[in-house]
Amino acid sequence: MSALLELTGVSKRFGGIDAVRGVDLRVERGEIIGLIGPNGAGKTTLVNLITGVHRATAGTVRFEGADVTAQRPHEAARRGLARTFQIVQPFPQMTVLENVMAGSLFAGASATPAIAREDAMQHLERVGLGAQAHRPAAILTLPSRKRLELAKSLAMKPRLLLLDEVNAGLNTSEIDGALELIRSIAADGVTIILIEHLMKVVLSLSQRVLVLHQGALIADGPPRAVVDDPRVVEAYLGARFAARFAQHPTEASRA
Ligand SMILES: Nc1ncnc2c1ncn2[C@@H]1O[C@H](COP(=O)(O)OP(=O)(O)OP(=O)(O)O)[C@@H](O)[C@H]1O
Ligand SMILES: [Mg+2]
Repeated sequence: MSALLELTGVSKRFGGIDAVRGVDLRVERGEIIGLIGPNGAGKTTLVNLITGVHRATAGTVRFEGADVTAQRPHEAARRGLARTFQIVQPFPQMTVLENVMAGSLFAGASATPAIAREDAMQHLERVGLGAQAHRPAAILTLPSRKRLELAKSLAMKPRLLLLDEVNAGLNTSEIDGALELIRSIAADGVTIILIEHLMKVVLSLSQRVLVLHQGALIADGPPRAVVDDPRVVEAYLGARFAARFAQHPTEASRA
């Protein structure tokens, strides 16, 4: 059977910048994958290439065996490829509920607006925004806007969900809730690629970790092996993290 997602030699050049360079990647159904790397490494660009926001300069993207390299964002959504945006941009005048309904309708995930509304409410309850459903999206705090992004992407009924720093700005207890939520989404059969700077989140959720550095994939493997990889330590984690992780894996993961 073909992989759920397969990238072959995927590159993206913006003017003089090689944002993504020759990425080969195979994602199987049911995986939870952490995608890490320094600022500017190309993580968001890679998500944009997978979801039709940008088109690869070279290489191919295949989803469920089909060549989707040239797809448009609404085609990606209809295929079951959903993502959250790192820079959240809800429709500010619309209610929180209407924003989620818009996601569902964009992806063609609900047969009628009434069903879209009912589904949207359930997704809002799930991410903890039920009480805000009828308020304008503009009043939400940044962490709540991130929850809204998540509800909106869930409303697309994804098969592959790409989360781009969806937990940024959460406090420690909110992060525990977010971990539970992401686990429950995965338990529903959604394959997840999670971009995340908090190593606690990456290490407690991911079965496999990818590291991007200057556009290139420099590591792809089990979390433990990736954290021990000297190239990853040098490019991203830093020697202090690695030393702490070696001695106290759980404490280091709070970094
Ligand atoms: N639309 C664009 N036009 C021009 N350059 C871009 C564009 N999008 C990204 N870049 C550049 O591509 C490189 C990769 O950026 P990207 O946003 O993918 O990094 P990132 O790994 O997501 O970083 P961060 O951790 O800060 O979110 C950067 O040099 C960035 O300036
Ligand atoms: Mg980014």
